[in-house]
Amino acid sequence: MPVTLLEGRRALVTGAGTGIGAAIAIALAAAGARVAVTDLDEVAANRVAAEIGGLAFALDVTDAAATAAAFDAAEKSMGQIDLVCANAGVSTMQRVQDLTEQEWDFNMTVNAKGVFLTNREAIRRWLPRGTQGTIVNTASLAAKVGAPLLAHYSASKFAVVGFTQALAREVAPVGIRANCVCPGFVRTSMQDREVQWEARLRGITPDQVVADYVAQTPLGRLEEPEDVAGVVVFLHSDLARFMTGQAVNVTGGVYMT
Ligand SMILES: NC(=O)c1ccc[n+]([C@@H]2O[C@H](COP(=O)([O-])OP(=O)(O)OC[C@H]3O[C@@H](n4cnc5c(N)ncnc54)[C@H](O)[C@@H]3O)[C@@H](O)[C@H]2O)c1
Repeated sequence: MPVTLLEGRRALVTGAGTGIGAAIAIALAAAGARVAVTDLDEVAANRVAAEIGGLAFALDVTDAAATAAAFDAAEKSMGQIDLVCANAGVSTMQRVQDLTEQEWDFNMTVNAKGVFLTNREAIRRWLPRGTQGTIVNTASLAAKVGAPLLAHYSASKFAVVGFTQALAREVAPVGIRANCVCPGFVRTSMQDREVQWEARLRGITPDQVVADYVAQTPLGRLEEPEDVAGVVVFLHSDLARFMTGQAVNVTGGVYMT
């Protein structure tokens, strides 16, 4: 990664204490950005921030006031943020007939509302300042095709793509870009939990679930968080200066349109 690609940029990443968010924070720093590492889990955020010389902030993305406070704290310490990754997300697995309202609300609130609140906070700051910032939201393969056992999660991730497209059209005239990445079967703690749930719900072993993921992937292996992070860096960089409103598949070929 060229260290100058994001030189001088100041980033805020949500859900960056582990998994894809941590890999994004590390890749942004490697590309020259200063990074505010935020997560619900402050200890995890601190670990990643220490690794990259960034700053850590506790942030629950479902809380609008906390989101404003985290941006305030980050900007006080490192100057104006101009690069945002709304990555925090959760999942649960259930067949629709057994899905509870609580499960639906949990997925929709963190995944869809969380992205809305993070993006709104960024553009509320950028519009009056004339900042031509960039946003990359973490959607999913499940934002492109409905995934069985994940109807509620799919709905929340389709919402992320729709929201991002609408926002991109609103702010394009002032030079703000907003895109999504859509990862596939990524090796993280979220996947570990999903493999166990899916095995139980389908009556197969966890190893069979993982083998099924790999079998669906033309590039023939599970995805790594770093596979996603490189594309996120690209989308924030000037190399992607004429891209906005896109939902870019990073799935090893699982989904191709
Ligand atoms: N792992 C996959 O296969 C996969 C595939 C497609 C998309 N995604 C998406 O990528 C993103 C990251 O997933 P991951 O696999 O790294 O998950 P993960 O569970 O390993 O990490 C998610 C991080 O988000 C944090 N988080 C959870 N709720 C939060 C909240 N309310 N506020 C702030 N932080 C919160 C957690 O503490 C954790 O550090 C999510 O949006 C997820 O939906 C993951």
